[in-house]
Amino acid sequence: MRQDVQQILFSESQINECITKLGNQITKDYKGKPLVVVGILKGSNIFTSDLVRKIDLPLRMDFMAVSSYGNATESTGVVKILKDLDRGIEGEHVLIVEDIVDSGLTLKYLKDILLTRNPASVKICTLLDKPARRKEAITPDYMGFEVPDEFIVGYGIDYAEHYRNLPFIGILKREVYEK
Ligand code: IMP
Ligand code: MG
Repeated sequence: MRQDVQQILFSESQINECITKLGNQITKDYKGKPLVVVGILKGSNIFTSDLVRKIDLPLRMDFMAVSSYGNATESTGVVKILKDLDRGIEGEHVLIVEDIVDSGLTLKYLKDILLTRNPASVKICTLLDKPARRKEAITPDYMGFEVPDEFIVGYGIDYAEHYRNLPFIGILKREVYEK
C-alpha cells in the first residue's frame, strides 16, 4: 500500500494539528446555533469523525452518499444521491464536510439541493482543496490544505476503494492508475 504512494504530502500529526484548528474556528463561529454536520460518504468519513471531536458544541451528525467517480480518476459531472439525510434540516445550520474539492461539481449540486430544504445556512468544510481543476465556482468556507493537481489518497480518500486506511495523505503513483 505505502509503496504505491509517490510522496507523502501531510503526515498524521500535520493532519491532527490542522483539524484541531478547524474545530476551534468552527466552535467559535457556530456558538449558540443549531448545527448539523453532514459528512459526505465515504471519503470524508474519517475526517468527519476526527473533526466533530474538535467541535466543542452540541451538534447533530448526518451523512449523505453520492456517486461521482466510480473507479476512474476523472469526474463524470453526474452526481447521484445514493443515501440522503436521515432527517430534515429546516432552521438548522448545515456544515457539509467533504474530503476533497476538485471540479466542484459534487458540492455545487449538494449545496443547491440542501438549500431547497430551508436550512438557516449551508457552509462547506473541506480537508483538501484542489483548485487547479475547478469547473464550478465553489469556495470552501473552511479548508485544511491546498493540494496540487495530482491523484491523492489516504486518510479516507480512495483510489478504486483502496488506500482509505493510510493514516497520512499522499500522491498516488501514476503507474497505479495508468496501467
Ligand atoms: P468534484 O465533484 O470533482 O469536486 O469531486 C469531488 C470528489 O471526487 C471528492 O469528494 C472525491 O471523492 C473525489 N476526488 C477528487 N479528487 C480526488 C483525488 O485526487 N483522489 C481521490 N478522490 C478524488
Ligand atoms: Mg467524496
